[in-house]
Amino acid sequence: MDFTWTEEQETIRRRAARFAAEYVAPYAAKWDREPSFPESAVRACARTGLTGLTVPKELGGPGASTVSYALAITEIAAACSSTAVTIAVTSMVAETIARLGTPEQQERYLPPLLSGEFAAGSFALSEPGAGSDAGALRTRAEYRDPDVVIHGEKSWISSGPYAGVFVVWARTGEGEGTRGMSAFLVEPSDPGFSVGRKEEKMGLRASPTVSLNFEDCHIPKERLLGETGRGFRIAMQALDGGRIGVASQALGIARAAIDVVERYYQVHSHRLGAFEKGRLAQMKAEFVAARLMILRAAWRKDNGVPFSAKAAMAKAFSTETANKICQEAVNLLGEDGCTDDYPVERLFRDCRVTTIYEGTSEIQRIVISRSFLRDAT
Ligand code: CAA
Repeated sequence: MDFTWTEEQETIRRRAARFAAEYVAPYAAKWDREPSFPESAVRACARTGLTGLTVPKELGGPGASTVSYALAITEIAAACSSTAVTIAVTSMVAETIARLGTPEQQERYLPPLLSGEFAAGSFALSEPGAGSDAGALRTRAEYRDPDVVIHGEKSWISSGPYAGVFVVWARTGEGEGTRGMSAFLVEPSDPGFSVGRKEEKMGLRASPTVSLNFEDCHIPKERLLGETGRGFRIAMQALDGGRIGVASQALGIARAAIDVVERYYQVHSHRLGAFEKGRLAQMKAEFVAARLMILRAAWRKDNGVPFSAKAAMAKAFSTETANKICQEAVNLLGEDGCTDDYPVERLFRDCRVTTIYEGTSEIQRIVISRSFLRDAT
């Protein structure tokens, strides 16, 4: 076992750290306060070759490993979690199109996603009545040759107002529940499509979260992504990888919180007693445990070893640990931690949703327990 970075991993980690220092960190507090979408930063990220990192070289992508992707998202999230989630979801969309798209779909959507011509890609699975129970979604898609007509509503969609392409899940009638749904590629200019209400959120305020409306939305039938009726599986496979991204995002937030506390004690050394040293030591140990879990899940994905449960474990553990670390960071700074003089209050707010989106911690525990109960039988 080798715990040193490969040349590729170190190169990408450094590139992401440089990108974050130049384009993201100086503006993160302002984007949060206004709030405003970091459009120029996410486009610059793509131009730097950090969006869609795992898209294979033969499809025009960087062809990097999931481990490198996890390192890059961690670096970017340490500067601004809203920017990191935008890049992570766009990368998940690009990877899914690379994996399942027809050559025509790959040619149409991958270059603009990878170059930054599209500021973002969106993943439209959740609905007002289908969050954790993704199989309960009600959006319908009907084949009316030569089109598919989509009708329904999606909610909690990241980057909706800025996305150049949406992966949209809808029922196509092959079966009940998780069976009988398919994935489609929808463009913002498609007739019958509109972006709805924007949520006012406690954190990740620079990442717009909206509802989407489909009112007899006509798209060409060639926009089916993957096999018809296999949509649930497509969503779950994408989320397996996406959860490594959210775990890395939480890890970046945790690292930023620890950094703030350490810098604080360099200035306020009289406040650093045995209690504070002990808390800081515990934060660091838990941070390292989370990082190892993420890297294990990423390594398994890169090596073709089943990784669904390991990604779920990394997601649940890292996001819960990061929330604890952020809470502790606020505590350790005392009243200073509750003001915007220090970024820990923003990190605390940004971190909260990571235990919820792309599957709550309870959902991750279902995925984990099913894997070991299956292994045990
Ligand atoms: N890979 C491949 N196939 C999978 C799979 C996986 N990881 N997980 C399940 N499947 C397949 C199963 O094998 C099964 O296939 P068959 O029908 O052929 O037997 C089928 O999918 C149904 O699986 P389950 O019986 O396990 O389904 P379930 O209804 O019990 O639900 C669940 C499973 C894990 C609870 C799932 O519903 C889930 O993950 N829910 C959370 C959804 C989620 O994460 N939503 C987040 C949306 S994105 C977001 O947050 C917004 C954003 O932009 C950031």
